[in-house]
Amino acid sequence: MAQLVGGITTSHVPAIGRAIAKNLQHDPYWKPFFDGFAPVHRWLDSAKPDVLVVFYNDHGLNFFLDKMPTFSVGAAPVYTTADEGWGIPALPPFQGDQDLSWHLVNALVADEFDITTCQEMVVDHAVTLPMALLWPDQAWPVKIVPVCINTVQFPLPSARRCYALGESIGRAIASWDSNARVAVMGTGGLSHQLDGQRAGFINKDFDLHFMESLIHDPKWATQFSIHELVEKAGTQGVELLMWLATRGAMGEKVKCLHQNYHIPISNTASGLMLLEPAS
Ligand code: DHB
Ligand code: FE
Repeated sequence: MAQLVGGITTSHVPAIGRAIAKNLQHDPYWKPFFDGFAPVHRWLDSAKPDVLVVFYNDHGLNFFLDKMPTFSVGAAPVYTTADEGWGIPALPPFQGDQDLSWHLVNALVADEFDITTCQEMVVDHAVTLPMALLWPDQAWPVKIVPVCINTVQFPLPSARRCYALGESIGRAIASWDSNARVAVMGTGGLSHQLDGQRAGFINKDFDLHFMESLIHDPKWATQFSIHELVEKAGTQGVELLMWLATRGAMGEKVKCLHQNYHIPISNTASGLMLLEPAS
């Protein structure tokens, strides 16, 4: 059976793409952010995942407001990127793992998640930039399965539901008839609000509490409604739902191998965690 080797959670701000394109990794503004990834690179070198399940939220590239699935799972042979604006160059395409995709799709539907299955899917900065942070040479050594959670058009799925989605995917990975080493990644957050009266809002206390909770009390944030999460983390800070799904996939106990928190990147609180299953 497949083995879940670890989980990574990270922010995904478009400005990171511009910084990569301009080689600003050692610039004083960017260094504390990019340096946070060095331990993740070392871990990837030894953990050597074959497949990465990526929980992310699309921002209008693949789904627009006219059709907005709550949960969708990629089942494409390849995922391309596109010019989203922001000055981010499009990155090389990602190979899909269709066998794992269909295994997840079947397992999720059997678990009563009414998902949308996407045999064609383009992926935006929420997938491409975290991939480029993990593998700066952009020669992707993993296949991916993108799992998209709607955070752009209300109503959004609850934190509790996203955690349960992650748990279902964790069970499905464990029952996948494959020798593959699988990692999970969740991208988005942490606190940020891009528009409205609270534009620029960041909540360091909440973010740090949330990160700590993922280690010792992973369901802590599931007590909050979406509106409470918006209040605490900002309108776009609800992207932390991806972190909850990732944590749900990782089983009961984890150890945290590395974390980094840096504010701000653009208008966003950037967080990073590297977790391994501990049970
Ligand atoms: C921005 C966009 C994002 O998708 C995000 O998660 C954080 C910041 C931005 O436009 O700055
Ligand atoms: Fe985002």
